[in-house]
Amino acid sequence: MSRWMGVIERYREFLSVSEKTPVITLNEGNTPLVKADNLARIINPDLEIYLKYEGLNPTGSFKDRGMTMALSKAREAGSRAVICASTGNTSASASAFAARAGIDCFVLIPEGKIALGKLSQAMVHGARVLQVKGNFDDALRLVREISAEHPVTLVNSVNPYRIEGQTTAAFEVCDALDGPPDCHVLPVGNAGNITAYWRGYRTYREQGVIDRLPVMLGFQAAGAAPIVLGHPVEKPETLATAIRIGNPASWKQAVAARDESGGLIESVTDEEIVEAYRMLASAEGIFCEPASAATVAGVRKLQERGYFRKGQRLVLTLTGHGLKDPDLAIRVSSPAHTVEAEKDAVLKVLGL
Ligand code: F0G
Repeated sequence: MSRWMGVIERYREFLSVSEKTPVITLNEGNTPLVKADNLARIINPDLEIYLKYEGLNPTGSFKDRGMTMALSKAREAGSRAVICASTGNTSASASAFAARAGIDCFVLIPEGKIALGKLSQAMVHGARVLQVKGNFDDALRLVREISAEHPVTLVNSVNPYRIEGQTTAAFEVCDALDGPPDCHVLPVGNAGNITAYWRGYRTYREQGVIDRLPVMLGFQAAGAAPIVLGHPVEKPETLATAIRIGNPASWKQAVAARDESGGLIESVTDEEIVEAYRMLASAEGIFCEPASAATVAGVRKLQERGYFRKGQRLVLTLTGHGLKDPDLAIRVSSPAHTVEAEKDAVLKVLGL
């Protein structure tokens, strides 16, 4: 049978699982790698651009790759409850996989600063949702302390199984392209995903599946760019709430990925993010989160200063689905008209 069974079944040999591990899966992974020729025509026709559309995972973000591992290992260890801090997607994913595993889920989110779709996911899956009067960094500090003192498993990306699960995205990219891209472009928030991709590419090279490594290019939002600035940001601000983080947990690993690959981590403004977000939607028919669009904004910025070479192959990870945050889409798009239910009135508005 060739039914896709999720990332653990597909990449079991690279992951810390045994026959005894109960696999908690929503058949995550196997996401499309979409060739973005329209985008390339706009940015630079001499580039080959692919979009790894992680918004098509079961809970709408890349977090599901890590969460299948984290919850499977939590179940294997006999854990009764998991806990996480989140800007929204981690909590959406954790609560779905915890529901499937029959494990309690506690989530701490920054009050009023997560997209509504993500909040609705945690609630409908039955997680215990606490809105913290503080930001993501405060929430992460709290769940780290609580999980160290109480019998609850932490499922943020400081849990090593999370990063391990997320390496599978790099495997999928290489499998789909029969090799690595020249550059891999990612948004950077808590810095787990850039860490995971870099580890995935290195694993594939150590195993001889690929013979070279890509350059890692990471982008933070300008108002939440601690790695770019070289110091924590006390009050991070960006409309890309997914990456509104001032003190990333995997800071050192992200810097290592940047430096070992000969890449860079830079910032893009909220205006550049929104422009890229609309460009993806209107030119490619792809609806992603604003945080995900930081990749396209970043590539445009590097292109302007002549960073890329002719014929280079780029993969951009679009980390989450645009439907998570429909408010923003409506806010930045032209408004819908209201008309009388009469043909003439409709034709007039349509200009036909
Ligand atoms: N894009 C989206 C849509 C995200 O939700 C996140 C992180 C990132 C990018 C950044 O990835 O943290 O691995 O560098 N979201 C976390 C959360 C923080 O709580 O959902 P990262």
